[in-house]
Amino acid sequence: MNTHKQSYQGRASSPARRSIAALLAVCALVASQAAATLPVAAAQAPAQVPIVIQFSHVVTADTPKGRAALKFKELAEARTAGRVRVEVYPNSQLYKDREEMDALKLGAVQMLAPSLSKLAGFGGGDFEVFDLPFLFKDHAAYHKVVDGSIGAQLLRKLEARGIKGLAYWDNGFKVFTANRPLESVHDFQGLKIRVQASRTLVQQMRQLGSEPSISPLINVYEALRKGDLDGEENTPVNIYSQRLHEVQSSLTLSRHGYLAYAVIVNKAFWDRLPTDIRSTLEGAMRDATAYQNGLAETANTRALEQLKASAKLTIHIPDAEQLAQWREALEPVYLASQAWITPGLIAAIKLATGAPP
Ligand code: LMR
Repeated sequence: MNTHKQSYQGRASSPARRSIAALLAVCALVASQAAATLPVAAAQAPAQVPIVIQFSHVVTADTPKGRAALKFKELAEARTAGRVRVEVYPNSQLYKDREEMDALKLGAVQMLAPSLSKLAGFGGGDFEVFDLPFLFKDHAAYHKVVDGSIGAQLLRKLEARGIKGLAYWDNGFKVFTANRPLESVHDFQGLKIRVQASRTLVQQMRQLGSEPSISPLINVYEALRKGDLDGEENTPVNIYSQRLHEVQSSLTLSRHGYLAYAVIVNKAFWDRLPTDIRSTLEGAMRDATAYQNGLAETANTRALEQLKASAKLTIHIPDAEQLAQWREALEPVYLASQAWITPGLIAAIKLATGAPP
């Protein structure tokens, strides 16, 4: 029954996972040699030498993102007839959250699919707009933004930082878990809650009187187990696949924010690929994206059922009055976020989604 946890622990301590020191050593080498020479070598390589794309991510292989990364591998390798090999490293096997971003910038890996929250350091603060509480009323509203001109413009902003955005991948609406029931806004007072590295999320927790703590996903289980953290927010699929319900006593179906990803590549690597390979990979990414986005909602519904069935958590569904209280308590986050989000972006998103201004 605990096989997942055993393998989780095995992966977390695996020698294959690179430490920051090892990363820096690799990166020094890569930065000085490979970033300049690898793409050229790839362009000139004989057909039998595959171009290797290392695709690192921080969730388990059986999540929608994990499965879509493998779908991309399957499609890319088949459609390039072996000229490209995609190596997928799930569940922080290679790098944790922040490390993987540094590794991509330095060319030590070529492809990632971080949450939009984690892109803030690359494209300015604008990706943190997606973390605003209750910004999207449903999945369709979120898609109006990423599938339209706002989504395209935000991805283009990454290019100045050497990153190319290829696609948006869905996850779903987040819920809160904690080691005590979270029903009213007052229940958050004094709790230490894990968030991703986003100023908007930090502000969200402060607004509720909690102490926000930024930590990599792979460390959350252990920190909750030891009591270093009291709670966290994530999607049901991430909570279930990381076994966080085993170390939490309550879940509140708040659906207070949307978690989504951008698939990104090292731009220098991508631009120097042979043109035919690049367009084949773009096609494989389009199809992997449709596959991923078709899985996410169902996977979250199923994970929520599995969380209920586990009987480890008390599930609380806020009523309309409680939700109104939460919205009101979190409204000041919009004002605070204007310090890092481009003026007009929130209004443009509200307009695109038909939300009241
Ligand atoms: C998190 O850190 O909680 C998420 O971004 C993980 C993920 O990639 O879904």
